[in-house]
Amino acid sequence: MKLKIAVLPGDGIGPEVTGQAVKALKSIATEFNHHFQFVYADVGAVAIEKYNNPLPYATVELCKKSDAILFGAIGHPKYDNDPNAKVRPEQGLLKLRKELGLYANIRPVKAYDALLDKSPLKRHIIKGTDICIYRELTGGIYFGKKYLSDDGEIASDLCEYSKKEIERIAVLAFEAAQSRKNKVTLVDKANVLESSRLWRRVVTEISKDYPDVELDFLFVDNAAMQLILNPKQFDVILTENLFGDIISDEASVIGGSIGLLASASVGAKHALFEPIHGSFPQATGKGIANPIASILSAAMLLEHFGLNNEAELIRLGVEKALKLKITTPDINPESNSITTSNVGDFIEDFIYNPKDTNHN
Ligand code: IPM
Ligand code: MN
Repeated sequence: MKLKIAVLPGDGIGPEVTGQAVKALKSIATEFNHHFQFVYADVGAVAIEKYNNPLPYATVELCKKSDAILFGAIGHPKYDNDPNAKVRPEQGLLKLRKELGLYANIRPVKAYDALLDKSPLKRHIIKGTDICIYRELTGGIYFGKKYLSDDGEIASDLCEYSKKEIERIAVLAFEAAQSRKNKVTLVDKANVLESSRLWRRVVTEISKDYPDVELDFLFVDNAAMQLILNPKQFDVILTENLFGDIISDEASVIGGSIGLLASASVGAKHALFEPIHGSFPQATGKGIANPIASILSAAMLLEHFGLNNEAELIRLGVEKALKLKITTPDINPESNSITTSNVGDFIEDFIYNPKDTNHN
């Protein structure tokens, strides 16, 4: 298969982890006779430094002309600590999502057997957890009208959803549930928010087309608790933009590190693949960033194009790395001599030689 992949490494540890994902994709291309072309572009704080724009026109154009986008991370402390900053790195990612119509963000969360003791949650609670979060990505409070009064004393962000916006992601969530455990949990705050009540109405309507899928509802405060009390009750979680952002970071605790969680952001025409973690500025350049979330995002990219064997090989490589403790210090603090690129090299070797790779 021929694929043109736009690579947007972004800020902080973004370039380091994305480098390992590209390495994995290159070895997959060699092993399976695919032709992947990688074209790089700037986004985020690095783009602000160069062009005073977190999402330069050339970056959007490249993304539109590519088959897929591999995204690193975004964010810089310089802007986080300046509430008056007009231009922010995050705007680059938000604009890109909107511009490309990436309305569904898919975030798989699972407890790896090799890491059951790495989570602060008890082993028997997390063992066997396998959840997929469908987070709406181009609507809600992130994109509603923003307001700041002239005296700077009153501010508001509007949370707005249309039926159409809810329907299109609900369909994806139900379809996903059909190839999983046939359950969708809608997470909302329908006891308080009008927008949540619209979600319930529209999702209930859509569920009639999927009689084999069980639908249940949870208020987001309760969901936040249930996620760590009894994560195995969940299969597909469907939710709006802000709730999805929050509960997916929370859910990453189940896996043992946020450095393991990959995501796919898809729309009608485009698809972007990125780790859910941020730019982790304190770790930049130290070789301690976990590249697995980015490498698993590359696996999701392959799967998006039906390259399931290729994706599976990457996943097996990741599992083997975890088993053999070829991991960065976020997972094994005692393994601080194992660097970001050591992990990438191990997975690359595994792809070329799945049977022989045994660094133990
Ligand atoms: C994420 C991130 C982004 C979000 C930020 C960087 C804008 O936290 O992808 O989860 O809030 O969506
Ligand atoms: Mn987030």
